[in-house]
Parts: sequence; C-alpha cells; structure tokens
Amino acid sequence: MQVSEANSDVDETRRTSDARHPRVARPVVHRRRPDVVSALTALERLIRRIPKAELHIHIEGSLEPELMFEIAERNGVRLPFASAADVRRAYEFRDLRSFLDIYYAGAAVLHRARDFYDLTLAYLARAHGQRVRHAEIFFDPQTHTARGVAFETVLEGIHSATRDAERRWGISSGLILCFLRHLPAGAAMETFGRALGYRDRIVAVGLDSSEVGHPPADFKDVFDRARAEGFLAVAHAGEEGPPEYIRQALHLLKVARIDHGVRCEEDPDLVAELATARIPLTVCPLSNVKLRVFPSLREHNLKRLLDLGLRVTINSDDPAYFGGYLLENFLGAQQALGLGRADIYRLARNAFEASFLAPTVTRRFVEELDAAMAEKTES
Ligand code: ADE
Ligand code: ZN
Repeated sequence: MQVSEANSDVDETRRTSDARHPRVARPVVHRRRPDVVSALTALERLIRRIPKAELHIHIEGSLEPELMFEIAERNGVRLPFASAADVRRAYEFRDLRSFLDIYYAGAAVLHRARDFYDLTLAYLARAHGQRVRHAEIFFDPQTHTARGVAFETVLEGIHSATRDAERRWGISSGLILCFLRHLPAGAAMETFGRALGYRDRIVAVGLDSSEVGHPPADFKDVFDRARAEGFLAVAHAGEEGPPEYIRQALHLLKVARIDHGVRCEEDPDLVAELATARIPLTVCPLSNVKLRVFPSLREHNLKRLLDLGLRVTINSDDPAYFGGYLLENFLGAQQALGLGRADIYRLARNAFEASFLAPTVTRRFVEELDAAMAEKTES
C-alpha cells in the first residue's frame, strides 16, 4: 500500500522472505513522529488503536496489483497491463458489474494453493497491522473451479494462511463460502456439495456477485440445505438491488446478517424489522462510493442507519480495488460523516457482537475494546 500516513502507528506491510514462502507480507511497525502525533485528532488516534473485527472482505478483492503481477509471472499468466500502476489506473468503475469484470479477470492469476496462501496471508498481515483481531473472510470457489482449479486447492491455501496468521499474530478468522448469484442455483448446490467435507473450516455460506436480476429467492434451496447441514448464512442484498431483495434474504434464506443492505432505508417497514430483529448490516463505505451507490462519502447513509438503531458495522469489501482497508474505511467515514466517539465505539462493538465467534470470545474482545476506549493517551 502507498502509505501516505506517515502518522500511522502500525499500518503497512512489507514483502520479506520466508523459509517456505519466499515473499510474504509482514506487518511493519512505524514509530510515531512527535510532530505528526499532534496533527492527529483524538478520534483518529482512537480509531487506530481500538481492536476491530472485519465481517465483509472478499479475499479475491484483496489482491494488490503488485502481488497480482508476482503470481502471474510465476504461473506464466499474461496480464493485459504493463505495470501495477497501469492496473490501478484501470480501477474506475461505473457500477458493480463493471467492477466484477475486472475483479474476476484479476482472480484468474490464482492457480495453486500457494497463490491463495500468499493472497490470504497478505490480507491478514495488513489487517493485523490495523488492529483487526478477527476477520470473517468470503471466498468465491466458483470463480476458480470454472477455470479448472480444484475446490480443495482454493480452500487449502486460504485455510493454511488463516492458521499461520493466527499462530504468528493472534488474529482469528472464519471462512464464508459465497455462491455466485449470476450462475444457476444448480451450480451453487454442486459447489455446496464440495463444502460438506470441510465443515470444520467453513463457518457460513454467502451470496455475492451481480445483484440486480439475481434475487435471493433463486437460492432458497441451497441455503435451506446449508442451514440444515449446520452452516450459518449471510447474503449480499440491498447494495444495488431493491429492499425486496433484503426481505427475501431475511425471510427465504434466513440469513444472520445482511451484507451491505444500505438500500433498506427506502422502506421504513423494513428498517423497523431489521432494527427489531437486530440484524447486522455489514456496510462498506469506500466500496459504495467506488461503485457509485452513493456519489460521495459525505452522502453515505451509514450515520443515518446507525441513528435509526440498526446494527451497522464498517468493512472494506474489496480493499485492493476500492482504495482502503478497514482502517481507511473507518477514518474516511468518521471524517466525511462527522462520526463521534460513541459512534466509533458502537461500530466497533457491533462488529464483534455480529461475528460468528463464540459468546465467551466475543465478550473478551468487547472487554479489550472497552479497555482501549478507556486508555489515556498523550497530547
Ligand atoms: N464480489 C466482490 N465484491 C462484491 C460486491 N461488492 N458485491 C457483490 N459481489 C461482490
Ligand atoms: Zn461484498
């Protein structure tokens, strides 16, 4: 990441060598410069220091152009770009669909378990550097199996990185298998069949990809089956799609969380239902601006949704494509929407409480959050 934040505490990764995997991401700890410390607001310092959870991150969307080139080279894949800077210049999106075309093309460099391992470890290193203590990570097996990459290869690479990251940095993870909704429901069912052998590695199923024209109702059978087999469920709904898709996700797919959900605001009865049922929304501010759901961060409805009593969380979605990881989403939303200390606390706490962690573990993280909130800092 280009770190413009000379003031960041612990935030950046550097590529270094490692015995098994020659180039892996490691967090780099920066010392604060005294002159920079005073330039930070108290809220910025708070956001940087509190423990966080991330519940909406597509691992394929964390593929930074530099790693894309490195993996393409070792796999003999030709990219239609001359440099990482060229790739970044192509990241101008009209809508979700125009983004997904580029996102699926980028993911095509991933072939071997080692590629999925490096991708996942790089994300977790950055997340750790931003004080993310727990991440629930989406992966899209169909994006890879359609290219001849085995389901097991994808899962093995991602899972072993989560295990190593936990050992190295103490960051915990859960994996969420997402079905691609632009493909037929039968293909989702077939993919789910593969997951049955890995119940211990996959916590939930999800639904992503191009939303409009692909309602949750189409996937009722596979979600019924997944829940019957003991998997939890989430679904993207109300990102570009109408409030009706959020209702279907709740009533037909019986999801525990709605991914995005920002269009619920158009339907007051739905807002009331979400509030009463305490359904978490995994909101992704920078993504919503990049994909033109909102014209700017200042016009984002996150603060209004919070004030309506909804269980809003902040997340990064596809951080390599949308200009920021979890910290940048928090900082951007705080500045653009004038979020206060109580809002930041609520958002961070909601994420731990909306996670799929055991209640005892959640409680420990909330205590850690409370301690960080209470910490006295310099200046
Ligand atoms: N896959 C990756 N990012 C996505 C998004 N923002 N919406 C739907 N599917 C996605
Ligand atoms: Zn998403």
